[in-house]
Amino acid sequence: MKTAAEEIAELKQARNAVILAHNYERPEVQDIADFTGDSLELARKAASTEADTIVFCGVYFMAETAAILNPGKTVLIPDETAGCPMADMITGEQLRALKAKHPGAAAVCYVNSTAEVKAECDICVTSGNAERVMATFPKDREIIFVPDQHLGSHIASRLGVSYILWPGYCPTHAQLTAKQIEAARAAHPGAPVLVHPECRREVRDAADERLSTGGMCAFARTSPLNEFIVGTETGILHRLRQENPGKTFWPAADLVCPNMKKTTLEKVRDCLRDMSPAVAVPKETAVRAKRAIDAMLAI
Ligand code: 13P
Ligand code: SF4
Repeated sequence: MKTAAEEIAELKQARNAVILAHNYERPEVQDIADFTGDSLELARKAASTEADTIVFCGVYFMAETAAILNPGKTVLIPDETAGCPMADMITGEQLRALKAKHPGAAAVCYVNSTAEVKAECDICVTSGNAERVMATFPKDREIIFVPDQHLGSHIASRLGVSYILWPGYCPTHAQLTAKQIEAARAAHPGAPVLVHPECRREVRDAADERLSTGGMCAFARTSPLNEFIVGTETGILHRLRQENPGKTFWPAADLVCPNMKKTTLEKVRDCLRDMSPAVAVPKETAVRAKRAIDAMLAI
């Protein structure tokens, strides 16, 4: 009998498909992916692929972004209930109301947002490029930043500006405390603390580096140090350990995004077999959302 991984390999060829996986996915899902990365790296891969079908192992907004970038292709998501609670913390209608209160302000969204919200924005950012993108705005420009208050306030303080923030947050990263960082430091003295900018301010302040998941992988790869404390979803430990066999990675806490864990090998196989569930974005929304994503990818 064939394993699920073998069946996936056969179906992938038959469908001329590429499998993209986020750094938080289960180890066995990362292992069958053609490419594993952060939101920005995955969006770039999705924009440049020549495959007919994209299987997106991640949460819904990521697959939606791939679909917006590839109107002619089929984008499959192995479990369509894998949402991002932060992305669902603001609706298009709420953003329109906020924009009406601040006419003239630029609207910027974190890529962790729905297509409907992206369609209302001038540009979007990921944690991997937010500082670079936001630095392109004049310092005195009024800016609405949604939905992540933590990434927004992190970038604002890096650039010495302030934004009109939406009170969204990631329920997984919100669990991490400065006390846990201190305890991890005491247990592993000398190991730098890497946290995701979605963490709360007290946690960001207690860390040494605030990095996207791709940034953490690059930091670990190029650092001369041998031990690292990692303050993000623990799925990333698989990739960090595989890419750096001589180095040690300690989770700052047991942070799990339940939605990232919904994707299993069996669901990847089934979606390739059935060519479903596929992500569909209404055309008018997709065209407007694509402008914000393209503006980001151009920087
Ligand atoms: P990255 O873009 O850093 O991979 O982050 C995505 C995400 O959802 C973090 O919670
Ligand atoms: Fe959303 Fe947080 Fe999960 Fe990332 S870790 S997908 S921000 S809920």
